[in-house]
Amino acid sequence: MRNRMGKKLAFITPGMRAVLSASLSIFALALVVSSYSLARQQTVTLDPETEDEARLNRLLPPDEIMEAMEVTPGMIVAEIGAGRGRFVVRLADRLGSTGKVYAEDIDAEALNHLEERCRRLGFTNVKTIVGDITDPRLPGGELDLLVVISSYHHFAEPVALLRNARSALKPEGRLAVAEWLPWSENDMEGTPRKTLEAQMEAAGYALERVEALSAAKPLNIYIFRIHQCLNPIPNPPNPI
Ligand SMILES: C[S@@+](CC[C@H](N)C(=O)[O-])C[C@H]1O[C@@H](n2cnc3c(N)ncnc32)[C@H](O)[C@@H]1O
Repeated sequence: MRNRMGKKLAFITPGMRAVLSASLSIFALALVVSSYSLARQQTVTLDPETEDEARLNRLLPPDEIMEAMEVTPGMIVAEIGAGRGRFVVRLADRLGSTGKVYAEDIDAEALNHLEERCRRLGFTNVKTIVGDITDPRLPGGELDLLVVISSYHHFAEPVALLRNARSALKPEGRLAVAEWLPWSENDMEGTPRKTLEAQMEAAGYALERVEALSAAKPLNIYIFRIHQCLNPIPNPPNPI
């Protein structure tokens, strides 16, 4: 097409062509990225990663355990002995973006795996902490709930460990321990109820209630609070 002077009219200037081709490239890239993340969302699930995790999920169903421990969205929760994150991913999912999970363990390699697992799942509400045998190194006074799931009998020094964990709880915070009852005296996979209750009392906790879970092996869920006399005593009212 020509103008009245007979000059050829260019509908698409070189500048417009550059903008158009850049926009097309961005659009194509966005299309590739979104279909890739959709494919990831479809393949990445909260399902167990190994047969051992599947077995533990059957014995310790995460939803039932979280119900018994009264886990609700928005809470700040820490798991001591989190391992590769079988339970942590379920916690992170239930707590949502307004909540937070501290995943603690003495096994740094397991925690690396857990971090990668959370990245794949898109969880940004999980923070890992490498602890010490007697000190979980949790941040002070932040937790609504501290949980121990099938790890208690692995702790070399449960009293020192849980005593050092106490300061991480808010004054009204709770400690919840899901632990097997041993079949016999020689069964090391579990802790007798009396032993666990006495040890947690020595660590500064007061038992609130115990719930029995009907798993293949008897399992108790113990809910504790910080022992009253260990809570900070409020200042007396001003006499004036
Ligand atoms: C059987 S795994 C349980 C993992 C996870 N809670 C679950 O239910 O899938 C026990 C975990 O306790 C950890 N553990 C043992 N002693 C510990 C301690 N003193 N402090 C923190 N974690 C400890 C181990 O490294 C291991 O990851």
